[in-house]
Amino acid sequence: MSATAPVQSEELYSPEHLADPHPLWRRMMHDHPIFFDEISRTWIVTRYADVAEVFRDHETYANGPYERSTGVVFGRTILQMGGIEHVQQRSIVAPEFVGRRLEAFAPAIGRAIDALIARFGSAQPLDLVAWFTTWLPINVIVDMLGFDLTGREDVFHRWYSEMMDGLAPRAELRAKGIAAHEEVCTFVDPQIAQRRACSGPDLLTRLVEAEAGGRSLTDDEIKSFVSLMLVAGGETTDKAIANLWWNLLRVPEALAEVTADPALLDAAFTETMRRDGPVLYEARDVTRDVEWYGTTVPAGSVVRACLGSANSDETVFDDPRTFTLHRSDLHLGKELRNGGPYPNDLAGHLGFGLGKHFCLGYELARAEAVLGSQRLLETLPNVRPAGELPPLVMIRSFRAAQTLPVTYG
Ligand code: HEM
Repeated sequence: MSATAPVQSEELYSPEHLADPHPLWRRMMHDHPIFFDEISRTWIVTRYADVAEVFRDHETYANGPYERSTGVVFGRTILQMGGIEHVQQRSIVAPEFVGRRLEAFAPAIGRAIDALIARFGSAQPLDLVAWFTTWLPINVIVDMLGFDLTGREDVFHRWYSEMMDGLAPRAELRAKGIAAHEEVCTFVDPQIAQRRACSGPDLLTRLVEAEAGGRSLTDDEIKSFVSLMLVAGGETTDKAIANLWWNLLRVPEALAEVTADPALLDAAFTETMRRDGPVLYEARDVTRDVEWYGTTVPAGSVVRACLGSANSDETVFDDPRTFTLHRSDLHLGKELRNGGPYPNDLAGHLGFGLGKHFCLGYELARAEAVLGSQRLLETLPNVRPAGELPPLVMIRSFRAAQTLPVTYG
């Protein structure tokens, strides 16, 4: 392959890049696999193998950036922890999010889906984002935790979006985010006390009672974890389901396939997480000088691992921008936290990260996407875009469909 034009930092902020990041990412993967962005003063790695390396080598690439974002807004959480502290916290909470224990929450997912669908009425066109994906993940988490959503749906959504906005380093947004977490604490405090006095069948009780290695969570840790769940499990899952539907509406053969055989929704979700996973970058602090392609990245720098480009690395995935439910190079089943190796030389997508901090909610997100989409297919026969499908939009480290107007029947 011949060299492409040198990349300038400004290009990362250009309207062309925001509209479609892949041409620039391709040039970066090809000619600038390590790139210093003068504007954000961060190093960017774009190739699949390099992104995986950053996630795997947690000694060299530490989770300090979360101390300066989530840590400030809602306190110390698993995301910013390392070493034994992280292992301990993860062992306490992770079992609740996989296998049988997660399956026990299937009714909560079903309830949230049904309640949203019941509101559709006969409205056409129907915006799947405004009526469905925006609400589902938070409503599910709130129900799982055992909180009463009645009359408070807007409040939970405001808390989560203010905490989310507060992750940006702007004083007024930070202050609002911190205030929202304080409101979460005021709401959750008596609920914790109640669960300590009397167990219930909900996730909050499990968080109160869970222990590993003789240690359980303190009240502050539980409150921070509740806020983390809202933030880490809200916007991400909302956008992943929106992007799944964006692809189904854009590729009629795929929509026809999942309509004929809804079991294929699992593959459609995995392929969406690869082609259009909503999270584009994760940042790490570099703890020692490291050499990347002859360039020294000094200790103390911030490196950003670009999941968005890595999942479209053409040395790993053939024709990576094609959306198909029948890839022979992508592992379509359950994700592996360590990233493989998967059987038959298949590659996993990196949309949930990799290694120690691999997404805790990956099974929950998949369950919401698959069950929710199954119900949408049943409810909206012959669903199709109402007019031209709006493009995905890049905002901060996310890229997602902002609206999905459909008609049906
Ligand atoms: C499709 C939806 C989702 C996407 C794309 C996503 C993405 C990610 C990514 C990329 C990471 C790794 C972060 C890093 O290494 O810096 C992560 C971690 C995490 N996610 Fe998710 N996530 C999703 C859904 C959820 C849900 C539903 C929950 C829980 C309710 C959740 C909870 C977490 C937590 C707690 C971590 C931190 C784990 C740790 O530090 O050990 N996520 N997620």
